[in-house]
Amino acid sequence: MSRRKIVAGNWKMNLEAQAAGQLADDIIANAEKEKVSDDVELILIPPFPYLDFVGSKLKGVNIRYGAQDCSAHEEGAFTGEVSATMICSIGAKFILVGHSERRKYFNESAELLIEKMNKVLATIGTPIFCCGESIEDRKSNNHFSVVESQISDVVLELKKSDAEKIIIAYEPVWAIGTGETASPEQAQEMHAFIRDLIEKKFGKVLAKNLPILYGGSVNEKNAADLFKQDDVDGGLVGGASLKAASFIAIAKSF
Ligand code: PGA
Repeated sequence: MSRRKIVAGNWKMNLEAQAAGQLADDIIANAEKEKVSDDVELILIPPFPYLDFVGSKLKGVNIRYGAQDCSAHEEGAFTGEVSATMICSIGAKFILVGHSERRKYFNESAELLIEKMNKVLATIGTPIFCCGESIEDRKSNNHFSVVESQISDVVLELKKSDAEKIIIAYEPVWAIGTGETASPEQAQEMHAFIRDLIEKKFGKVLAKNLPILYGGSVNEKNAADLFKQDDVDGGLVGGASLKAASFIAIAKSF
């Protein structure tokens, strides 16, 4: 069995309600017109206020949706927080955990990310765990050790029965929103490295089945070369996911 192929669009903190609705409509229409293969899982990740209405547009359509973050708490007096249970209760099945923007601007630590992973895994949701090195780490040749700690501090702490439910996204920070993509070779060597870490802890079968997405300036021009790599199972797309035609062109790049 070959691994799942996934293209997820992280809309980040973009678009007002009307434009968000239009984008969802355009993606649905384009996916149908361009006949995106049923083998490719499409996931929309809009801002929280739009989750429910984007979700309602996706009823009966082969596109799923998810959230950009969740609380590390289950429920209660945590003003402003949104729990994994709430997100899943409206039908959103995926939750990003540890995106580099949250690590950087909100100081999210490995301890906090373990809590979030566990909250998502206690629901029917799937965490998409993000990792990736900074430009300084890459320049000083520390990229493998940085990604190794990010994975071992959180993912390798999970129970095997939980680890088999997750998706990993490798997103080098220097490639996010910069227009500079990792080369297909750089992506492949890091994805293979991550898969190897997973295999050492959880065994061959789990590692072989685990989807590892690449993120960082993925667009319709570079997607095919990235997705051709043995260990690259799709993309977590930011900027290019805000244009329906680009997002769908990326989904057709396998
Ligand atoms: P980008 O963002 O495609 O705009 O680089 C990717 C991400 O942050 O998930």
